[in-house]
Amino acid sequence: MDMANEYNSSEMAIEERIRNLLTEMTLEEKTGQLNQVQWNGWEAFDALADDVRAGRVGSVINLVDRAAVDALQTIARQESRHGIPLLIGRDVIHGFHTVMPLPLAQASSWNPELVRDCARISAQEAAVTGVNWTFAPMIDVSRDPRWGRVAESFGEDPYLTSVLGAAMIDGYQTSDPASPDTILACAKHFAGYGASEGGRDYNSTNIPPNEMRNVHLPPFKAAVEAGVATFMTSFGDIDGVPASGNEWLLTDVLREEWSFDGMVVSDWESITQLCTHGMCEDEVDAALVAAQAGVDMDMVGGLYSAHLPHLCESGEISMDRIDQLVGNILRTKIRAGLIDGDRLDQHTEEPARLTALAVARQAATESCVLLRNEKDTLPLASDQISSLAVIGPMANEPAEQMGTWVFDGKSERSVTPLDAITSVLEGQAEVDFEPGLETTRSHDKTLFTRAVEAAASCDVAVLFIGEEAILSGEAHCRADITLPGAQADLVRAIRQTGKPVIGVIMAGRPLALGDVIEEFDALVYAWHGGSMSGPALADLLFGRAVPSGKLPVTFPKVSGQVPIYYGHKNTGRPPEADKVIHIDDIEKGAPQTSLGMTSFLLDAGYEPLFPFGFGLSYTQFAYSDLHIDRHEMTEKEMAIVTATVINTGTRTASEITQLYIRDRVARITRPVRELKAFRRQELAPGESVQVEFQLSVNELAYYHRDGSFQAEPGDFDIWVGGDSRADLHTSLRLLKA
Ligand code: BGC
Repeated sequence: MDMANEYNSSEMAIEERIRNLLTEMTLEEKTGQLNQVQWNGWEAFDALADDVRAGRVGSVINLVDRAAVDALQTIARQESRHGIPLLIGRDVIHGFHTVMPLPLAQASSWNPELVRDCARISAQEAAVTGVNWTFAPMIDVSRDPRWGRVAESFGEDPYLTSVLGAAMIDGYQTSDPASPDTILACAKHFAGYGASEGGRDYNSTNIPPNEMRNVHLPPFKAAVEAGVATFMTSFGDIDGVPASGNEWLLTDVLREEWSFDGMVVSDWESITQLCTHGMCEDEVDAALVAAQAGVDMDMVGGLYSAHLPHLCESGEISMDRIDQLVGNILRTKIRAGLIDGDRLDQHTEEPARLTALAVARQAATESCVLLRNEKDTLPLASDQISSLAVIGPMANEPAEQMGTWVFDGKSERSVTPLDAITSVLEGQAEVDFEPGLETTRSHDKTLFTRAVEAAASCDVAVLFIGEEAILSGEAHCRADITLPGAQADLVRAIRQTGKPVIGVIMAGRPLALGDVIEEFDALVYAWHGGSMSGPALADLLFGRAVPSGKLPVTFPKVSGQVPIYYGHKNTGRPPEADKVIHIDDIEKGAPQTSLGMTSFLLDAGYEPLFPFGFGLSYTQFAYSDLHIDRHEMTEKEMAIVTATVINTGTRTASEITQLYIRDRVARITRPVRELKAFRRQELAPGESVQVEFQLSVNELAYYHRDGSFQAEPGDFDIWVGGDSRADLHTSLRLLKA
């Protein structure tokens, strides 16, 4: 049966259809649209089907059974009064059956097209099951690696997060979100979730307006501009107001300032949790507060269906308000093409496995960051090695390399580093595998002896260590972010053999490696690279591919330096140079001022272990000729910044050139550096390129206390280079209007 009818036909304008539908719908049918329920298996199918038939459900979460989706959508379309299909939501975070690298890993590629391709494949795979909505991208700026969800983020920088978030949205939705092989994206978690105090998940956040506007909100604004269909609220409270009851965020900013007209879903029972937060006295109050604040759909809590009808009948909430919430959901469904056709019928096949795995492999390769390479230990020449020791608890763990958030990931698609290395060296060299530790968390050193023997008898040892998937992700936060278990001791034991030690760290967060970094001749940070992590690593280790990733987060030396990020403020007392004082060396009775009176930690200094934007290659890039076409400009003008990058080494490789600015004087202190542009390009040995960036007043402006976005006249520093410490410098003066 065609769902089109006289009040809801694809011939009509969307707003007219919405108005007509709202006129026809009962209050119960309206609040039904606001209700997202959980799939509880076929045992509960009949009850769910009854609810769908009666119009009591707008969306089902965690349903990936095509037959069930088909049956429910058919009931919704043909047996419910208005034929409104369901949104079928699922966390497709970094892949579906084929697992792509973690978002944080993808961010290390600084490659928006690749991030888009990963999301495209994921959408195509997921849509076959009937899923039409994902809860991604997570664009919470994350500056605290203790927080387990840093894995799911694009890191610490608002600009990089904005660009990659928009690319991911495009990959899921494309320019035609009604096309059957797309899924709707969701910008989450609105807002400030990444600032959970102490890195403890779900914790309160205290984000002053300046930081909210300039750091946490920009990626969400960019998501609106990229056409994201939906938003999700955060679990946290911001300055005392939980996000799911936060009218300022959900209405003033999102709807009024940014004109977002898609829909907002709560996080899992986060409306109910308004009571737990202590903001609402009971569930009726919570439903009222969330609905008034601007949450359109209640994820799993059931509060809207239970309470909004009588709140409306008693006049505590107006029918207009209910209509606005429902209208946002109907608009989203119409735009997604759900009402005007059976998307499932038109999309029956996943993309070819080989295509999906090729994208996963490229993404895993570009996600790796080479952090250390003493005496060009890497790449290894496979024809000059007769034996290689593969060591470590992450070397052969198909499920662990997929990382967090892989509900639908098929671990049988994973190719592990051990598999991949063995196949590269087959017939040429011996591969001796010893895990050394049972898991990354083990303290039992019984297996050390065999691992040390293997390393001692081989030409080179490659250690696959890090964190298993369970150590990062939602609610999986750590206070001590060093290598877990006895892994640091394993590294030291292997070091004692005198053989070259190559470390590969597979983890969901930046680890504090200050105490072990010197033990490695070379170190590759691979994150959780997904299905094709193994082949990608083998390609990099043996030089079939060249590392190009750069860090999207700052790496601390020790856990206690956190939060540490490149875009910090200068303070009134910045240190001139990094200095660390061994506190046991301080003389008894030394005068207070003798250690210096600047902003540093006695025992950890001021600098990180590795800065934001950093990553080595198998070649070298040199920067020169930084030029700006004007040193002064008005607000209406544009400055063109150029710099020359040359590949001075012997390998063709990609370099990510970054442009940073600093607003030298502003009435609200500005970060010491801010990323404003980047470019990724491949250069052959000896090849040079002139990279060009444009700077308009938009790049110089920031949000002021009154919410306005303006640049202050005055001087700006500009740096261009290969990481956030770039020293090639020029300047620009913004003239008074
Ligand atoms: C998470 C969300 C997720 C939702 C649905 C929540 O616990 O915070 O990010 O999308 O569950 O699974």
